[in-house]
Amino acid sequence: MNVSTMIDPTEAVVEPRPETIEGLDNWRTRPTKQQPPWPDQAAADAVSEHLLRVPPLVFAGEVDQLRNQLATVARGEAFVLQGGDCAETFAGATADQIRNRVKTILQMAVVLTYGASLPVVKMGRMAGQFAKPRSSDEETRDGVTLPAYRGDMVNGYEFTEESRTPNPERMLEGYHTAASTLNLIRAFTQGGFADLRMVHSWNRGFAENPANRRYEGLAREIDRAVKFMEAAGANFDELKRVDFFASHEGLLMEYERAMTRIDSRTGLPYDTSAHFLWIGERTRDLDGAHVDFFSRVQNPIGVKLGPSTTVDDMNRLIDILDPDRVPGRLTFITRMGAGTIRDALPPLLDAAQRSEATPIWITDPMHGNGITTQTGFKTRRFDDVVDEVKGFFEAHREVGSHPGGLHVELTGDDVTECMGGTQRIDELGLETRYESLCDPRLNHQQSLELSFLVAEELAVTAS
Ligand code: PEP
Ligand code: CO
Repeated sequence: MNVSTMIDPTEAVVEPRPETIEGLDNWRTRPTKQQPPWPDQAAADAVSEHLLRVPPLVFAGEVDQLRNQLATVARGEAFVLQGGDCAETFAGATADQIRNRVKTILQMAVVLTYGASLPVVKMGRMAGQFAKPRSSDEETRDGVTLPAYRGDMVNGYEFTEESRTPNPERMLEGYHTAASTLNLIRAFTQGGFADLRMVHSWNRGFAENPANRRYEGLAREIDRAVKFMEAAGANFDELKRVDFFASHEGLLMEYERAMTRIDSRTGLPYDTSAHFLWIGERTRDLDGAHVDFFSRVQNPIGVKLGPSTTVDDMNRLIDILDPDRVPGRLTFITRMGAGTIRDALPPLLDAAQRSEATPIWITDPMHGNGITTQTGFKTRRFDDVVDEVKGFFEAHREVGSHPGGLHVELTGDDVTECMGGTQRIDELGLETRYESLCDPRLNHQQSLELSFLVAEELAVTAS
């Protein structure tokens, strides 16, 4: 997010009337999965009308910058790190929590940059990750059945009828919370907090912890590289600012549609709710509303691919979402499961290699590795997460394609939601600090540990 781009007056946007954007409402004729049943449709329509007039959260020029950076990933010249909560909450949008998450992502990115010897494109699952797909529309507790929690943008987590009833006003609160989150992210990443030397000194703190001895060697190598840059006269003032992009699952169709604007430079539609939107595993039907809508906006688009994805599904997604084969336009985020990725991914990579498409491949080692403990906690084993990442690199080595990045659910706080890592969180330990309302996240330490392990894999690939 380059501040000079943000205020360029040529990036002004015109207020669109819905009917002026050709085809943009075609999704309304398609099956639309995972939408809340708003009890009062007129109230939902009024909120949409309001959102059509609010200022954009991100600018078309920034979105283009991200697409250009992603084009370098598609060419094998950069790596992506995308991370953040499974479900952001309004209450969790505090300065401390946002800072800790940005800090964790920046720390991981430095380690990955060194390991890959490549630039790392940084994206948060942040500033808009407020809507969730659910496997069941309802939840039953002690004989009481209520609508499932669908994210703070739709309803409340509290298990009462009032809180669980979808309330469209929450879309407006989501917009404002995304705006204040983005404001902080811009300040943190442009105002000196991202200084490479400072981020590296935080990483030294991590590696000096006796539990993390295994990573001391790599941390020392990075130390020498930073000192070398200093001695060689690198301009660290330029390394104080980083580009950091916002992303979330494009799920809640009324919200995404209402946040879409025509870019006055090109006359093309951009979804200004985030720089990057991805379509989830549950809503990526080829003839569904989500694929139709996101095929018509200019943002770079991701699609989650689970273990049952066929080569035909993949090719048809490419044809619909990236008909012009624009490098950086389309990212496949695979979430196969540690036990499946080595079999399920290579045929897809191979077929993509043989076409003239250039999708980016990112691994999400979280969503294929969920388990529930006997005590009822949704969790993941750190070792399974690492194993899926290793399988991802192996598959790319086998086919000769570029492992483009990592997508993780993480937080900067010391929660206990995933098992394992050098802190050896076990089943009993999960109770200590389990805060996620949705899927379990890697905590700060586990996230850094993962980045050191991935850096080792990247170093093998780079050599
Ligand atoms: C998610 O990213 O939180 C999610 C729901 O993922 P998926 O669509 O891969 O299940
Ligand atoms: Co999740």
